[in-house]
Amino acid sequence: MADRTGAPNTVEHFDDGTHPEFYYPPQELVEHSNVMAYAREKGYSTFEELYQWSIQHPQDFWSDMATRFVDWYAPYQQVLDDSNPPFFKWFTGGKINVVHNAIDRHANGPNRDKVALIWESEQGEAKRYTYADLEVEVNRFANVLKSQGVKKGDRVTVYLSRVPELVIAMLAIVKLGAMHSVVYGGFSIDALHSRIVDGQSRVVITGDGGWMNNKIVELKNITDGAVDRAADLVERVIVVRRTGHDIAMHAGRDLWYHELAARPGMDAPCATEQMDAEDPMFLLYTSGSTGAPKGLLHTCGGYQVQVATTLHFTFDIKPDDVYWCTADPGWITGHSYIVYGPLMLGATQVIYEGAPSYPDPGRWWSVAEKYGVTIIYTAPTAVRALMRFGDAIPAKYDLSKLRLLGSVGEPINPEAWRWYYRVIGQERCPIMDTWWQTETGAFMITPNPTTPLKPGSGTKPFLGIECDVLTEEGKPAGQDDDGLLVVKKPWPSMLRTIYGDPERYKETYWSRLPGFYTAGDAARRDEHGYYWVIGRIDDVIKVSGYRLGTAEVESALVSHPAVAEAAAIGLPHELKGNAIHTFVILRQGFEPSDDLENELRKHVGKEMGPIARPESISFVPGLPKTRSGKIMRRVLKARALGLPEGDLSTLEG
Ligand code: WT7
Repeated sequence: MADRTGAPNTVEHFDDGTHPEFYYPPQELVEHSNVMAYAREKGYSTFEELYQWSIQHPQDFWSDMATRFVDWYAPYQQVLDDSNPPFFKWFTGGKINVVHNAIDRHANGPNRDKVALIWESEQGEAKRYTYADLEVEVNRFANVLKSQGVKKGDRVTVYLSRVPELVIAMLAIVKLGAMHSVVYGGFSIDALHSRIVDGQSRVVITGDGGWMNNKIVELKNITDGAVDRAADLVERVIVVRRTGHDIAMHAGRDLWYHELAARPGMDAPCATEQMDAEDPMFLLYTSGSTGAPKGLLHTCGGYQVQVATTLHFTFDIKPDDVYWCTADPGWITGHSYIVYGPLMLGATQVIYEGAPSYPDPGRWWSVAEKYGVTIIYTAPTAVRALMRFGDAIPAKYDLSKLRLLGSVGEPINPEAWRWYYRVIGQERCPIMDTWWQTETGAFMITPNPTTPLKPGSGTKPFLGIECDVLTEEGKPAGQDDDGLLVVKKPWPSMLRTIYGDPERYKETYWSRLPGFYTAGDAARRDEHGYYWVIGRIDDVIKVSGYRLGTAEVESALVSHPAVAEAAAIGLPHELKGNAIHTFVILRQGFEPSDDLENELRKHVGKEMGPIARPESISFVPGLPKTRSGKIMRRVLKARALGLPEGDLSTLEG
């Protein structure tokens, strides 16, 4: 099929199973895949034909998905309202709640006694929750929140470790029609504080602590640090008990969850609020190119439709699968593909509380063996870290039940891809390298079980999704040429706005190339129409798959009394993908020293969380700047890489 863009959108014939560049999926998997079943139902014999239909009739496709994977309290009137771009609306007029689809309908149907969640603690204890159990727990948590005044439209901040209560709390909040704002349990006081304030949360849910590497993460201390600075705002801190160690409870503000839950009436059923499709569902903060917190807003209808659809077709979820996504529910991967997607599809999943290498680097594979995991979805940084320990460790475990693998968060380097494929998947399990973002809510570019794979490529857009690679001028980039990755049409699970700042939403995502959503990634497309994501083009650094803004790191440095000015850049790192390197101009009276360097690294870790601790700090007398005084990070980067300063791609920084 002809395409107006520079690189082909479709492939001629490479699917004869012989092209040396491709890794082909087992025929058996293709035959029985959910996506082939759907293609056949629609009268097509290949994914490619199905895809072409889906992008020619995206509204028919999404409407079909919206009736197939979720139940509505009241039907929608319109699939897509695009009358006020870029403020798109999906499934308008429909009434829905994801908790009905993830919990209520299963707990009151044939999946009632099916195990929904197997939780393994770092110490090795396992807890199982059926769909019926989850209904009881979610009702109880929702009743507790209601007793504390939480109601429709409120924002509740959640700051917990990877415990079942994190999943339960999120579901309970959404059950009441309130919005969760989950802050990852590895973040520090500052990050938590700014998110509580931006979202105006009156209620915060935290824990006494979390277990990680056999050490206690002091969640409550950090929460106190954040909440004490927002004393006029936060009325209630609900504390989930996990470690049982001593913590301070602030009288009149802090209450134990288990004590609240034991009060009379908390075991009663709690109604699931009927929401409009476009009512807000949650906020999730992410790093952008400025230091200000950026609360991405997702809504009730379109989000759940695309999450369920993508999980069904990409990871091919079948009733007897045991699915394991190793992410934290505090990130978008966990929101979409731990908390909501698997439960909507009535799946059984594993959540592991702790560190991958505790007590030894075989821990993950032992979890996979113990529960008969069939699908693992993880991040390149974890693959690289576990690869370092060699093939002998995974070889000790029975991984024969695995049938599909997944990757997300950053480009996966071909070496790690091949190791994952050969040693973990035993050359039997295709790798779903899913490209998406907190903003997109769900997969956008991804293989499916029928796709011939190339290590390092996310292959092609999902059904109903149209992407492109454009030049700065908005022209199609040529085959194999670097350009800006864009999405050409609205999609159901897209962010709706940046909380409280619609102008910033427009400016950040829709102004660079008018009419297109710009993702902030550079990419290229090859002769087969396969996408290769190269990395960020803005001031965002991906460290171990975590997204960090240079501005946030710089402002953390400048908050130290010794620092006058700072610049942060990302440089390639074998394990982390990228690592943060910083340049610091000291204030008068301070001298460079190893001690000061260590102190500054620690300071950033304390301000932002351990993920952000810089790899290096160089003390410099000056920084390269534009005439208007903006730091030229790309010049710093070029120097650090030993490249000519003018020789970087014009897309950089
Ligand atoms: C950025 C989004 C989506 C959940 C986790 C990350 C990078 C993500 C891939 C992939 C290459 C990837 C991009 C993107 N990214 N997945 N499969 N291949 N790059 O969400 O923190 O919002 O980050 O992660 O740069 O823009 P996020």
